[in-house]
Amino acid sequence: MTLHDKLALPVGTTLDRFIMRKQEDFPYATGELSQLLRDIALAAKIVNREINRSGLIDIAGAYGNRNVQGEDQQKLDVIANIRFIRALRNGGEVCTIVSEEDEDMIQTGNVQGKYVVAIDPLDGSSNIDVNVSIGTIFSVYRRVSPTGTEGTEQDCLQTGTHQVAAGYVIYGSSTMLVYTTGNGVNGFTYEPSLGEFFLSHPHITSPQTGAIYSINEGLSNDFTEGVREFVAYCKQQNYSARYIGSLVADFHRNLLKGGIYMYPATRRAAKGKLRLMYECNALSFIVEQAGGKASNGQQRIMELQPQTLHERCPFFIGSTELVEKAEEFMAREYAELAEQK
Ligand code: AHG
Ligand code: MN
Ligand code: MN
Repeated sequence: MTLHDKLALPVGTTLDRFIMRKQEDFPYATGELSQLLRDIALAAKIVNREINRSGLIDIAGAYGNRNVQGEDQQKLDVIANIRFIRALRNGGEVCTIVSEEDEDMIQTGNVQGKYVVAIDPLDGSSNIDVNVSIGTIFSVYRRVSPTGTEGTEQDCLQTGTHQVAAGYVIYGSSTMLVYTTGNGVNGFTYEPSLGEFFLSHPHITSPQTGAIYSINEGLSNDFTEGVREFVAYCKQQNYSARYIGSLVADFHRNLLKGGIYMYPATRRAAKGKLRLMYECNALSFIVEQAGGKASNGQQRIMELQPQTLHERCPFFIGSTELVEKAEEFMAREYAELAEQK
């Protein structure tokens, strides 16, 4: 390729331009959702910077023991929480935030804001200190209460089907932001020297089936019958076991390659571990938009009515055929349980 040809190549689509173009598809859009997504992307860049230097923070003097806010010595999940909340508060489009890191709803003070955001600011916390991929997960809902007042619990406790946008950031061998507004899924890769996300994975579609299963098999003594048998089935099929322990990273891999991720109910934890509002709903919206499926073993995740902010639910997500297969095994278990009663 000549230099002339190279110069004629497009520079690539930045996230900002992509969001702007999408907004033009909706003539009456006011641009608030676009701005909200840009706020999240900005916070993601800041968190990405903190993560990249996290190994240096304890080295005396390398980055100073504290910054002006005195934050450097806090754990990264607390820092990420502060960064995202601050970006969303400054943006002005969000009236209320619910975060995995905070017991109660956070009122931003922007009573005119039309949106509420549910966020897991730092997912995969056990991997923070060991240089393994971690992430951020977010869901955006339109408030149901009138503007001009503080957001309410009703604004937050909406089913996943009401999400207007959802996404995740993966801080991995490269940093990516993947999101949907209900019209397909697009992925952007961060170019650190330019400080921009570029469209790198347009129209992500997930394979209908796959050969990867992801579950914490250390818990297998506590698995119920259906899960145990489905895992045995995966082994019979010679599927590969892959489990990073960061939901975002496990999900992202399976989304692109095909596979199933499971965090089931166990004998000790009847609702599993993962949180409906901060983790399951957002990834379910994305997987469905990419042609995959998400279930609690019986029902579509996005139709589950949350009762409380921090509630958990069993989670089976990934390629449609594999999730349906897991549901078959779970249905057998539930049928047997019903017979025994
Ligand atoms: P978080 O760091 O936000 O609390 O989430 C941790 C979650 C999820 O990322 C991961 O898939 C799962 O916990 C791992 O749990 P186990 O260690 O029990 O397998
Ligand atoms: Mn998490
Ligand atoms: Mn978290």
